[in-house]
Amino acid sequence: MTDRYAVIGNPIGHTKSPMIHDSFAQACAQDMAYSAIEGPLDGFVAAVRAFRDGGGLGMNVTAPFKLQAYELADERSERAQLAGAVNALKFEAGRIIADNFDGIGLVNDIERNLGVTLAGKRVLLLGAGGAARGAILPFLAQGPAELVIANRSADKALALAQCTQKYGQVRGCGYADIGHGYFDLIINATSASLKGELPPVAASVFASTSLAYELLYGKGLTPFLRLAQSTGVAHLADGVGMLVEQAAEAFRWWRGMRPDTGEVIQKLSIPLR
Ligand code: ATR
Repeated sequence: MTDRYAVIGNPIGHTKSPMIHDSFAQACAQDMAYSAIEGPLDGFVAAVRAFRDGGGLGMNVTAPFKLQAYELADERSERAQLAGAVNALKFEAGRIIADNFDGIGLVNDIERNLGVTLAGKRVLLLGAGGAARGAILPFLAQGPAELVIANRSADKALALAQCTQKYGQVRGCGYADIGHGYFDLIINATSASLKGELPPVAASVFASTSLAYELLYGKGLTPFLRLAQSTGVAHLADGVGMLVEQAAEAFRWWRGMRPDTGEVIQKLSIPLR
């Protein structure tokens, strides 16, 4: 019998997840079907239960339901707990198990696909919302020399750094207190690009050898990537690789095998210009 999975969000029309998982299933010879469900804004829990009760084995969860999915779960991984959000569910023996693969997807994209090793590097993470929170533990696990979290509301960045300091060298601050010197990797995990805005980061955080990474994907050169480029940064990336890598981690979690990601990333990539 065909095993069923789905992504749930609202709106969901833009989702690439069915295409990604269909490609993985085909490459790994898995008999599975992956659909997209537009969850009613006031009926997320009922929609998840209906999918599970109809035989579904797992789901991806996207905006605006990641926090509700966290609340609904019976079990959550440590990284999901820190993020306060989940993006994948597995239904097992009557329980709802939750994880968050966004951060590990980002780290895998940076290390495996973009060839940047994080150990010993200076990393600047812009933003302290859900997207940034999910990335902190996976980053610290790689042993960067320093992870600086900068946010417009500095208190949120400080609080995040405080609760993760046992995992590595991490500091939180406002944009004005980022300090001197450039970073090897600068990640825009704010939602500024969605509004065509630029986080108030100084050009001096970039060096020509830095990698500038925009979590948003498919939008070409965002204001953040343009700023990086104008300072001489040649290595620019958007979040398409992260999207595919988080899907690969969820696929492995559900199916016990990890698909290759290169071909799918290539198919979905839009030139950064
Ligand atoms: P997400 O789930 O995408 O992370 P979120 O939890 O609403 O969304 O968080 C949005 C993040 O983008 C926050 O860190 C926010 O900063 P504040 O906490 O100070 O609001 C940040 N953000 C949004 N617009 C921004 C802008 N124009 N400049 C800088 N940071 C911005």
